[in-house]
Amino acid sequence: MTGATRTTARGLERIEGRAKVTGTAPYAFEYPVTDPLYLHPLRSGIARGRIASIDTAAAERVDGVHTVLTHHNADALNPIGDPELAVLQSDGIDFRGQLVGAVVAETPEIAAHAAGLVDIRYERLPHDSEFRDDANIVYTPDADASPMLAPDLERGDVDAALAEATYTVDVTYTTPPEHHNPIEPHAVIATWDDDGLTLHDSNQGSHLVRDLLAPLVGLDKERINVIAPHVGGAFGSKGMPHGHLALTVLAARRTEGRPVKCALSRTQMFELVGYRPPTRQRVRLGADPEGRLTATEHDSLEQTSRFKQYAEQSASASREMYASPNRRVTNRLAALDVPAPTWMRAPGEASGMYALESAVDELAVRAGIDPIELRVRNEPEVAPVSGLPFSSRNLVACLRQGAERFGWQDRDPRPGTRREGDWLVGTGVAAASFPSLLFPGSLATIRHESDGKYRVEIGAADIGTGARTALTQLAAETLEVPVDDVELRLGSTEQPNAGLAGGSAGTASWGSTVVDAVRAFRAEHGSDPAAGAETTAGAADNPDLGKYAMNAYGAQFAEVRVHADTGEVRVPRMLGVFAAGRIVNPRTAHSQFLGGMTMGISMALHEHSVVDGRFGHVVNHDLAGYHIAGNADVGSIEVSWVDEHDPHVNSVGAKGIGEVGIVGTAAAIGNAAHHATGVRVRDLPLTPDKFLR
Ligand code: MOS
Repeated sequence: MTGATRTTARGLERIEGRAKVTGTAPYAFEYPVTDPLYLHPLRSGIARGRIASIDTAAAERVDGVHTVLTHHNADALNPIGDPELAVLQSDGIDFRGQLVGAVVAETPEIAAHAAGLVDIRYERLPHDSEFRDDANIVYTPDADASPMLAPDLERGDVDAALAEATYTVDVTYTTPPEHHNPIEPHAVIATWDDDGLTLHDSNQGSHLVRDLLAPLVGLDKERINVIAPHVGGAFGSKGMPHGHLALTVLAARRTEGRPVKCALSRTQMFELVGYRPPTRQRVRLGADPEGRLTATEHDSLEQTSRFKQYAEQSASASREMYASPNRRVTNRLAALDVPAPTWMRAPGEASGMYALESAVDELAVRAGIDPIELRVRNEPEVAPVSGLPFSSRNLVACLRQGAERFGWQDRDPRPGTRREGDWLVGTGVAAASFPSLLFPGSLATIRHESDGKYRVEIGAADIGTGARTALTQLAAETLEVPVDDVELRLGSTEQPNAGLAGGSAGTASWGSTVVDAVRAFRAEHGSDPAAGAETTAGAADNPDLGKYAMNAYGAQFAEVRVHADTGEVRVPRMLGVFAAGRIVNPRTAHSQFLGGMTMGISMALHEHSVVDGRFGHVVNHDLAGYHIAGNADVGSIEVSWVDEHDPHVNSVGAKGIGEVGIVGTAAAIGNAAHHATGVRVRDLPLTPDKFLR
């Protein structure tokens, strides 16, 4: 870091920290297995059409090649409704880079070399891979294909309210595709033996992987074991299995029990594991003379793939954020011949709140009202659409505390007035919100061992968040024993079923499961249990679900410097103040917020997957061309939170924290860049050229 990042937060140290930094924590690809083979995927060179012929003879003749798999010789998979997993089931091509085969060989080098010898001929069809607002490709998302879809919303008369409003903004923001780049790439080792299938897989939920694979390959769930004790980062792309997993499983059926290892390269990850879809969002706001919103309209258009619908819902960010009697919210999709997008950290909110919080800033400038004051004036009494009370909502406290810490009171609101040498300096603010979700159905086993310790087993995932640490802490605290007396195991289907590490719902869902399972254990076995005493239980139903609107909130503050001659944008200072219920472990929570904000800086300034429409692929498909914020891009980030007691969200009282940290960051930076320069850039990322136009 170029500046000082506060590391004063205390809390139980990350339990697997030492194993990770000493290289003894096994990740999927490095799990020790006997006599493995290596898979190199074959990928389509065209964006749409079919394979006319595929000649594998030369590849098969290479010394050390074990198997070449194509749609001609691959086993049938059962259709389970996810076209991404139906690999090698036909000759059809839906996007450039699609999996069309695999070479399995004694070494990765032999596999890669032989893959280059496979001769694939295509019948091309015209493809369309350029995201744009065009009636030919735009449609209303299909609710059957996306069960969690929020429908369009229409309240009151938006057009009339806009016509009568004292202040209005009518602005369109665009965001580019972004790709997940966890440090550990997607990787899997698949081993078939007489007992069934074992997968060492980098994922966000081993049980979910198993639940989807079992019907796909026609095996009983009990005969599949998915193991992922350590995951080197995941931002949504490891939430659902992708085609390479099915491909590796198909290949491993042909290797007489030898394990097959597959690790995707960075470049392959730009085609095969999803991405944050590009958006085009129009926001119209109307306000009265005091800046109170009379109309809020948010219409979002987002990319999806023609072969598989993924429906991001960025406009939904405007459903419950601010009070507004008239409201219209719509989400549309543009279907293209491209890979399927997927969840990426705060899917929907990250893009949607960028647009909303930038537009709110534009309204504040237009009305001449301080942007914090404007937000405070638009605080809703209850959730505006559902009418439900908030379980807790401390956005105003975040804004006020943040203003105090950040030194907001000294700010001259006029844009383009502060200059230090060659740098134009400005400050900006934005709000953040992310729903507090709870995934039901997790189970945990509590067991008292003969050595006096307690073993806690839950098939949860620690993707680097600190879940293992927080859950150990919650178990120890509920058992009323020292944390050293608890050994927690997670990450595999060997442990009881637990849901996905997604939606920032881990501590809420697994935490309440562990807490309630411990309570059940104590109820059954008392405070002095016999060795071997064991209880498996889930979380009690939360009676408050559906009775309250439950969200985490935050306030993001940024100082931005834009170079007067080159347009270079720097972010020397950020502050995030969050309200997320009980913070179970301040140390790991601090890292989650810090990571989210860092990814937000990256979103604001750098990340942009550039698609070449002629071929339908991402051109800058590696870490040389796709820049992610590194240490030199990040100045001082201060993270804090308000004390918030929320008795309604779950039995832990914790709201999710993994995603709210990225929400609003890009808007705060964009708002600060406007304050610095007077130039309003409405297109991410905020690259220098856009300030020089
Ligand atoms: Mo997160 S995008 O819910 O993995």
